[in-house]
Amino acid sequence: MARLRFVLSFLFLFILQAIYVATDSESFIGVNYGQVADNLPPPSATARLLQTTAIEKVRLYGADPAIIKALANTGIGIVIGAANGDIPALAGDPNFAKNWINTNVLPFYPASNIILVTVGNEVMTSTDRNLMTQLLPAMQNLQNALNAASLGGKIKVSTVHSMAVLKRSEPPSSGSFDPGLADLLKGLLGFNNATGSPFAINPYPYFAYRSDPRPETLAFCLFQNNPGRFDPGTKIKYANMFDAQVDGVRTALNWMGFKDVEIVVAETGWPYKGDENEVGPSMENARAYNGNLIAHLRSMAGTPLMPGKPIDTYLFALYDEDLKPGPSSERAFGLFRPDLTMTYDVGLSKTSQISGVCQ
Ligand SMILES: *[C@@H]1O[C@H](CO)[C@@H](O)[C@H](O)[C@H]1NC(C)=O
Repeated sequence: MARLRFVLSFLFLFILQAIYVATDSESFIGVNYGQVADNLPPPSATARLLQTTAIEKVRLYGADPAIIKALANTGIGIVIGAANGDIPALAGDPNFAKNWINTNVLPFYPASNIILVTVGNEVMTSTDRNLMTQLLPAMQNLQNALNAASLGGKIKVSTVHSMAVLKRSEPPSSGSFDPGLADLLKGLLGFNNATGSPFAINPYPYFAYRSDPRPETLAFCLFQNNPGRFDPGTKIKYANMFDAQVDGVRTALNWMGFKDVEIVVAETGWPYKGDENEVGPSMENARAYNGNLIAHLRSMAGTPLMPGKPIDTYLFALYDEDLKPGPSSERAFGLFRPDLTMTYDVGLSKTSQISGVCQ
């Protein structure tokens, strides 16, 4: 009897998973919609563009009402952001947090499928100690405001980290956080763990290549043929830098005791052009990185430490941001041009997705 029950429940799970794969197969592909630009198409055109692609989630750095509204009734998951500059008021005044939710969430939800509020961007590596200590209280006040509006659990609250919160990430089994940030990170992770929100981080194999510009490193970063990298701690041979970086984060989280906190890749990408003296940016490399990353996610392989489940990944970025300062590469991460054509093809359009299945 127990055996039959076991077989039946296994079958049931299998059917559930089949339904999941059929209806929600690519919920793990997201994109960053940055707006530091003066040439972006209107939000309504962007909403239509996104619906022709396999992209199912969009991350905004702020909470532009025109974009949130344009995405209404598309089913696309929306991540909205509270700016670093709002953190002191969010932390210090529960009413400010309540107003923030009243203004940026309640008028749009649930028609607009807001799934996550990120509080601040890369605050823990900002070196602004005040802001760093105010981050957790700001997140707590926003969570309380969501709870009061009966949206706790439906809309999660988190923050986004740069990889620099890690002291080490290579080899992945040595992944560990910067000890100087450990106390504050423990608090933030306790919040993630208690509320079921993800730990959001920005791994960029592109930057790893720039600091070690050898051909085998490039191939490792672009998911191309390479000898792989052996991790003596786990005896795992890593085939690509993305998995290695994400598993470095996983190891650091596990060491701190947060095995159940999920990782979300809030940003990753590769620029398609740069200045003459920049190593790495090119159309070929950008297409290889993003295209192979998407194929890797679709393979459902996961990472060696998290097999079988693709990690939610927000590609950087939807469009170039022509007003960003710095080297040319900073303005050349866009997957689409302002006229809505592809910068290069990475297999994101719905038709190429179908033909991919048929092959
Ligand atoms: C994480 O949350 C679970 C369930 O609420 C709890 O039992 C566990 O102690 C928490 N872990 C840590 C490290 O806080």
